[in-house]
Amino acid sequence: MTFEVIVLAAGKGTRMQSREPKVMQDLAGRSLFSHVMTTAAGLQPSHIHVVHGHDDGVLQRAVQQLSGVNWVCQDQQLGTAHAVLQALPAVNPESDVLVLYGDVPLIKQPTLASLVAAVAGRNLVVLTAHVPEPGGYGRVVRGRDGSVARIVEERDANEDEKAICEINTGFIAAPATVLSRLLERIGNENDQGEYYLTDAVGHAVESGTPVLTHTTTDIDEVSGVNTAQQLARLERAYQARQAEELMRAGLCLRDPIRFDLRGTMEFGTDCMIDVNVLLVGHVALGNNVTIGTNCTVVDSELGDGVSVKPNSVIEGARVGSDCSIGPFARLRSGTVLATGARVGNFVELKETRMGEGSKANHLAYVGDAEIGRNVNIGAGVITCNYDGANKHKTLIGDDAFIGSDSQLVAPVEVGPGATVGAGSTLTGNAPAGKLTLSRSKQVTRDNWQRPQKKDQVK
Ligand code: UD1
Ligand code: CA
Repeated sequence: MTFEVIVLAAGKGTRMQSREPKVMQDLAGRSLFSHVMTTAAGLQPSHIHVVHGHDDGVLQRAVQQLSGVNWVCQDQQLGTAHAVLQALPAVNPESDVLVLYGDVPLIKQPTLASLVAAVAGRNLVVLTAHVPEPGGYGRVVRGRDGSVARIVEERDANEDEKAICEINTGFIAAPATVLSRLLERIGNENDQGEYYLTDAVGHAVESGTPVLTHTTTDIDEVSGVNTAQQLARLERAYQARQAEELMRAGLCLRDPIRFDLRGTMEFGTDCMIDVNVLLVGHVALGNNVTIGTNCTVVDSELGDGVSVKPNSVIEGARVGSDCSIGPFARLRSGTVLATGARVGNFVELKETRMGEGSKANHLAYVGDAEIGRNVNIGAGVITCNYDGANKHKTLIGDDAFIGSDSQLVAPVEVGPGATVGAGSTLTGNAPAGKLTLSRSKQVTRDNWQRPQKKDQVK
């Protein structure tokens, strides 16, 4: 039996007070929608249909990598049943259908797989959950014998029904033919004047279609995002789940509650991450990498034995093995460090390659530079790479020594083994093996006297 997925994602997200479609809200670096679509694709259905609203193709672009998605625009958001009806004509009548929600991002694949399995060619299967605070959800109303009678939305529920703690998670599965027969009967005589998918349950009971419920105890996986508070809560739930998995795979997190990964990571053995670290995009760590407190690492590779000291920010960098970064260092995109390089406090690097064993330990800006091996960049050195219109390169040969507080006005070249005296402003090349200075000569005035305040003058 084939099955197809319908993802409902046309809602406007009024309660988020955002101009973006609600399902485009970010959870751990990806949209809610992208989470749901990844889970849907993982189930390997024969087709995925997405019901979306007028969103200028934002949703399509968010999941570009998934091919073969059928996009159905729901012109007006007349309710969840109306949304499913927009997609049904494209569904093979022989298939079973699973309905997912674009704003319920943490649903797990095995839970959905068991919903689909329970359809067995004839049943309407509803995923429910028991929650202590059911406010806002549809409630599952059961008869005296315990069988499901119907689902009632909170705003249409009476006091007794509101007290029910078994909620409708929204996830349902049924054969396409059964679903389309039930949906035809759904009206909009309710408080919101919407066509509720949940009414399919009552109609199924009336018409003798078997209704099965499947209950999950994991509230996070069925929680929807309607408000900023709910989004923040699910972010924490997701991060906790992810941190558990990473630790199980051998990553040492000093405090999993104070670690965030918005993306993906890989790591070798004996990596240690201290508190308040944020990793974004794809981050690859070799073996024995340590990241100190309060660091952010974005789309970067850190080789074996790299030590990142506290308060450093690394973005788009490739850091070779045994490098030391920080504290308070900033590596920007295009930074490539060879083995054993050292970048210390208040040093910013951009589009710069640094050779083996080279170091810039204090207070420097190095941009658009090629630096050889064993180069020493003194404190306060600045590459003046920008002339107000264009960027220019600075080339520094092996074993060069750039004295403190020097400015290298690019384009400029410092030869291998050259020494640039402290406080120099280089506007021309510094030849290999020689000392180049551009500071003005030091003078001492013998007869000079300090000025004195008027009333002290005798
Ligand atoms: C829905 C259920 C409720 C359940 C809850 C679980 C209905 C009527 N109610 O309520 O029983 O407890 O989910 O989270 O189904 N959407 C469309 N087109 C529409 C309306 C909605 O695509 O015309 C999409 C939304 O983008 C959203 C999903 O359907 O992804 C659910 O809609 P929403 O308005 O959030 O329903 P809830 O009030 O949460
Ligand atoms: Ca919702």
